[in-house]
Amino acid sequence: MSFTATFSVSGAKLFGSCFSVLRMALWGRKERNSTQQKPLLLGKWKQRAWLLAGLAPALASSALAQTIPVTVQAGDPKVQISKHIYGHFAEHLGRCIYDGFWVDEKLNVPKQGRIRMDIVEALRKIKVPNLRWPGGCFADTYHWRDGVGPTAQRPKMLNMWWGNNLEDNSFGTHEFLELCKLLNTEPYLAANVGSGTVQEMAGWMEYLNSNDDTPLVLERRKNGHTEPYKVSWWGIGNESWGCGGNMTAEYYTDVYKRYATFAHNYPASPPLKKIVSGANGDDAHWTETCMKNIPLNQMWGLTLHQYTLPTGSWTGSKGKATGFSEQEYFNTMKNCLKMDAVVTKHAAIMDKYDKDKKVALLVDEWGVWTDVEPGTNPGFLYQQNSLRDALVAGTTLNIFNNHCDRVRGANLAQAVNVLQALVLTDKEKMLLTPTYHVFDLYQVHQDAQFLPLQFTSPDYVMGNDKVPALNASASKDASGAVHISLVNLDTKKTLKLETALPGVTYKTVSGRILTSAKTNDYNTFDNPNKVKLASFTGAKKRGGNLSVELPPQSVVVLELK
Ligand code: AHR
Repeated sequence: MSFTATFSVSGAKLFGSCFSVLRMALWGRKERNSTQQKPLLLGKWKQRAWLLAGLAPALASSALAQTIPVTVQAGDPKVQISKHIYGHFAEHLGRCIYDGFWVDEKLNVPKQGRIRMDIVEALRKIKVPNLRWPGGCFADTYHWRDGVGPTAQRPKMLNMWWGNNLEDNSFGTHEFLELCKLLNTEPYLAANVGSGTVQEMAGWMEYLNSNDDTPLVLERRKNGHTEPYKVSWWGIGNESWGCGGNMTAEYYTDVYKRYATFAHNYPASPPLKKIVSGANGDDAHWTETCMKNIPLNQMWGLTLHQYTLPTGSWTGSKGKATGFSEQEYFNTMKNCLKMDAVVTKHAAIMDKYDKDKKVALLVDEWGVWTDVEPGTNPGFLYQQNSLRDALVAGTTLNIFNNHCDRVRGANLAQAVNVLQALVLTDKEKMLLTPTYHVFDLYQVHQDAQFLPLQFTSPDYVMGNDKVPALNASASKDASGAVHISLVNLDTKKTLKLETALPGVTYKTVSGRILTSAKTNDYNTFDNPNKVKLASFTGAKKRGGNLSVELPPQSVVVLELK
C-alpha cells in the first residue's frame, strides 16, 4: 500500500490558479513588511506597482517550478516511532533544577513540597516520556548518597562544572523520582563512572530496585519509600570521552563492561536497560569500538551527543540566541540538518554489529547551544529561544522519526532555563518557549506507526549556498489517524504540497501551525505569547487529494481522520 504526493513551490500552477499567484505576491509583501517592522502605507498606484513587482518573481519562478513526486508507503506496522524520542533532560546546571523545577519554599507559585507545579502542569500537557538526570557532566561528579536522608544533614558540594556554585543536595534521588511521578515519566539516571566507584553505582541500583531487607533497602524505607522505585534506565557514564573522564574508546569499553557486570537486576524490579556512553558528534571510532568490544547482551542502548551551534564553532562565539541575521539563521539550519548525516553514520556502524537493530541509538543530548543571555552567569547556559529554535526542533524530530528503526530515544538539552529550554522562569513568572510548542504539536507521533515519506525538497537558497527547504515525517496512531509534520525552513517561499493518499482513508483534515513574522521572534515574560500555536487552515481535501500551502518559516502538523 502506498500513496504519492507532490510538492511544488507556490506559483507553479500559475495558469490554473492566478489567485494563488496573487496571494503569493501578497504574502511576499507581508513578509517584507514584517521584516521591516513598520506599517505599509502605500498609495493606490504604488500598491499596484508593488503587486506587479510581487508578481514578477512569481511569474519567473513559476516557469521553473518543479513538481516533486513524493511516495509514502503504508509502513511496517511493527516499526513505531518510540515515544522516548520525545524525552527531556534535567541537569544540576544553572537554573534547571534549583530555581527551575525546585524552588524556594517562599516563592509564590503552586508547589508540591518545593517542586514547581506550573512547570509540571505544562510538561504533563506535552507528555514527557522520560527525563534524564542528574547530568550531563554533573553526573560524573555526583555522589547519590549526598542527596538522600534528612535534608538538613545532606553535605554541600561545589558544582565544579557549572558556575562553581554551592550545591546543597536538597534535590536528590527521592525528590527527582517524586518529580518523575508527578510528570508521569520514566526516570533515566546517569551513574557516576568518572569519579565514582562500581560499588557506589551498584548500591544506588540496590537502594532503588531491591525489596529485600538489606541495609540499603532498609535505609530507603526509612527515608520514606517502602516500595522499590523500579528504575530501569541507567546510563553508565556520560561523555566518557570528555567531561566524564577523558577516556579513550578502548579504555571506556573495558570500564563499561566492569560497571555493567555489577549492574544487577532485582526480582522486585524490571530488568535494567544499560546504556553505553556514546560518541561526540560524528566520532565513528567511538561507536565502532563500543559495538565491537561490548557484547550486545550487555547493552540496551548506545548514546550520541550532537548539538547545533549557530556558528558551528565550540571556540569563540557560538552565536546569538536572538537578534541574528538571516545568514546566521541559515547557518544554524545548515548545522542542524547535519543531524541526519551523523545519525546515518552511527546507525550504519551499528548495523554492522547488530543487524537485527536490538541496540537503541539514543541521542540523549541535542539542541541549539548559543552564547548565554548577556548579563547571566556564563556557567549557567541560560539562553533565549526563538522561532529558529522551534524550526530546529521540528526538523530534528522529523530526522529522528525518519530514523526510528534505530533511534529509539532522545533528550533535548534541557527542560528548564538551560540551553534550548521548553520553559523559562523569572521568579514567579514562567513562559513556554517556541520549542515547547513543537513538542506539543509532535506528541501525536509518540508510539505511533511510522509512515515512510519520500520526496525531493525544493532548495532554500542563501547566496551560493542552499539547504532543503522542506522536511517532514508521518505516522499513524492507534485510532488510525494519520499525522504529518511539515517544516518549511525557507523564510520567503510558501511551499505548495499536492498529496495523493490512496492508502489512507480519511474524511477530515485539520492542523496547527507555529510561525511568526521573523525567525528571531521569541517569547518574553512581558509578551509570553508572541510565538504561539494557531489553527492551520492551509490544508484542503480535494476528492482523495490533499492540498497544503505551507507558509515560510513554519512548523505544521496535520491530522487526517
Ligand atoms: O547539556 C550541557 C552539557 O553538555 C552536559 O552536561 C554535557 O554532557 C554536554 O557536554
